[in-house]
Amino acid sequence: MSRKVLSVLLATAMTASLLVGCGGTAAAPAADAAATEEAAPADEAAPAEDAAPAEDAAPAADEATAGKKVGVAMPTKDLQRWNQDGSNMQEQLEAAGYEVDLQYASNDVQTQVSQIENMINGGCDVLVIASIDGESLGTVLETAKAAEIPVIAYDRLIMNTDAVSYYATFDNYMVGTKQGQYIIDTLDLDNAEGPFNMEITGGDPGDNNAKYFYNGAMDLLKPYIESGKIVVKSGQVDFEQVATASWATENAQSRMENILSSNYADGTNLDIALCSNDSTALGVENALAANYKGNYPIITGQDCDVANVKNMIDGKQSMSIFKDTRTLAAQVVKMVGQILKGETVDVNDTTTYDNGKGVVPSFLCEPVFADINNYKEILIDSGYYTEADLQ
Ligand code: BGC
Repeated sequence: MSRKVLSVLLATAMTASLLVGCGGTAAAPAADAAATEEAAPADEAAPAEDAAPAEDAAPAADEATAGKKVGVAMPTKDLQRWNQDGSNMQEQLEAAGYEVDLQYASNDVQTQVSQIENMINGGCDVLVIASIDGESLGTVLETAKAAEIPVIAYDRLIMNTDAVSYYATFDNYMVGTKQGQYIIDTLDLDNAEGPFNMEITGGDPGDNNAKYFYNGAMDLLKPYIESGKIVVKSGQVDFEQVATASWATENAQSRMENILSSNYADGTNLDIALCSNDSTALGVENALAANYKGNYPIITGQDCDVANVKNMIDGKQSMSIFKDTRTLAAQVVKMVGQILKGETVDVNDTTTYDNGKGVVPSFLCEPVFADINNYKEILIDSGYYTEADLQ
């Protein structure tokens, strides 16, 4: 292929990826949850040429970026969203002319550390890391720093290291406030008499995001707990008590089964299940299906995983939060280019995310409320899923 043809193709492809920056709407293929830990095949990529009109063309990859290698470390293929994050990153980075080393670590910290070591030794120019445990990468990232390899923390902040240059995520606190506000509005908590019974299911304590989700929701709901309008019958309110190791559906399910049999077996209604994300909401929904006879509660979630959107359609989950992984990937691809070209890197938050060694300049994408009323518009019309995915 001639250099000119290549650069036109790259320019078109880059335009497509830039256009899906936070808030953009370009279509991407619907992704399926994969059952294995192998990297998603690149050939699922959408034809980037179709995604954007030519007049918006961005500059082609130039010498500062062409042929550079980007290591992308993802936590696991077990949860749907990371499959989408990984394949979107790979697709968009390759479209922009980068070589990509995409790895999934089966939620095993040591595996992720080795994968990052290999990326460093294999000549990656930039590392993009969605950590399994934010506290466990300090040592390996010292090596990255010594080799002058910039690190972008992807979705989850990496803690207690000064080797992280930037952080790109969704506004994690806002995810929690959207869940909390939904509960307040749906039950009309300021006017309704109550009391309402609530149980809380949080995320993985090793994931820095988990506390932001919890705090966002609890900052809004705590006053109602304090006034007695919301009652947590299990007494488990603190983050440590409600956390779910590895965000695993089975862990959330067995904890909720215990709570239901100890506190709700006599027919007492559970009115609210505040769940930080969809994998934990699924566990709660499974527990309710097996062990609960009262009125069905409000259940919150996050990610719009296929199983949970299906449950929303079936009336088994009330809401979720849509985090368009295409937009996060586009933002990170942009950051990678800006870093390699020595340009100013786009950030929109320089105060919130202190990782223990200082505030990491961050770009926060906006999470979007999703429920039965708008899922078609945000998930299907935008090309995130097809109708068939949700059947
Ligand atoms: C992500 C959530 C996700 C959770 C479990 C968090 O770090 O921000 O979107 O549900 O991990 O994978």
